[in-house]
Amino acid sequence: MLNHVEPAVHGALDFAELERAGIYPDDVLDFSVNSNPFGPSPKVQEAVHRTPLERYPDRESIALRRALAQRLAVSPEQIVVGNGTAELIQMAAFAFLVHCKARRKGKENVLIAAPTFGEYTRAADLMGANVLSWRAVPETGFAFCPDEIEKILKNQEIRMMFLCNPNNPTGQILPLDALDLWADQYPDTLFVIDEAYMAFVPGLKSSLALQRRNIITLRSMTKDYAIAGLRLGYAVADEAMIRALVNVRPAWNVNVLAQAAGLAALQDEAYLHTTLVQLRDEKQNLLAGLKSLGFAPVPSRTNYFLLPVGDGRGFRQKLLAHGLLVRDCASFGLPAYVRIATRLHAENMRLLALLEKEFV
Ligand SMILES: Cc1ncc(COP(=O)(O)O)c(C=O)c1O
Repeated sequence: MLNHVEPAVHGALDFAELERAGIYPDDVLDFSVNSNPFGPSPKVQEAVHRTPLERYPDRESIALRRALAQRLAVSPEQIVVGNGTAELIQMAAFAFLVHCKARRKGKENVLIAAPTFGEYTRAADLMGANVLSWRAVPETGFAFCPDEIEKILKNQEIRMMFLCNPNNPTGQILPLDALDLWADQYPDTLFVIDEAYMAFVPGLKSSLALQRRNIITLRSMTKDYAIAGLRLGYAVADEAMIRALVNVRPAWNVNVLAQAAGLAALQDEAYLHTTLVQLRDEKQNLLAGLKSLGFAPVPSRTNYFLLPVGDGRGFRQKLLAHGLLVRDCASFGLPAYVRIATRLHAENMRLLALLEKEFV
């Protein structure tokens, strides 16, 4: 029985909570998810409407993998598509961590750079692995500290490391040369690099460029292309690694709508580019507005950022009563913070107006 494993805590709407509070989900303005608030490209909407529902999906997502392969200059055999990156995180743990019950030597170590996305710990826990953490601190603006991380890699036998780059919730970035060095020096460690938010940081170098056998790069298409409801992500790695992931993949894991939407999204890069450029401007406006109200947002490279508020939970509850949702960061071990993702101009203005009324 795996009942002892704690569920990961997530942002986004908690439908049961809203029902208890008598709040209609459509009335909530969600600053707690880090997605592109402009929504999906009209081409994606059209593709979804055109897609027949009665057919089983392509189990291999061939068309989408070919399009991704061309975009990323890798072969389709180096890609596996998932029902969101969340599924790929579990697949990676399933494929590469040996369940501790089956292992005489004891538990395998999984290293996590915290505070970060909760699914890494859950995936490791489900496999009975031993989770070790390195933790970024507020004093350095939550920056990654490669030297400290390296000490753990050196002193412990680490089977797998999950690293989120850019990181959620801090929006911090790991310099690629650190990963380059680690991948070389620790060939027995598998580095799972979650680049779910890569598109939100212009010019950021991907771990894909390193082309290492012990790196699996995860990408989400639900954030930048705004199709969270459809679920879509992919992993890129050495062909042998991908075969191992395919082995543990549930059959028909990516539905027809998600595959069609992913293909259409890739064909409308202009929309992605325009919306993300606007989003970056909106983030600057929002930060300026918050600072003018006396708040001190933590600098980040992404569309989202941490905001110290004293009591994150209370702050969230107060905003939710007015139909605005932010991410309480207690589950990240940061109870004094909330995480806010930039939304459209008028929506950000609504947030600022409410903050001025309730908190200033
Ligand atoms: C770092 C990170 N990785 C993965 C995911 C899940 O992405 P997907 O919607 O592709 O499953 C999230 C969602 O919040 C995330 O923050």
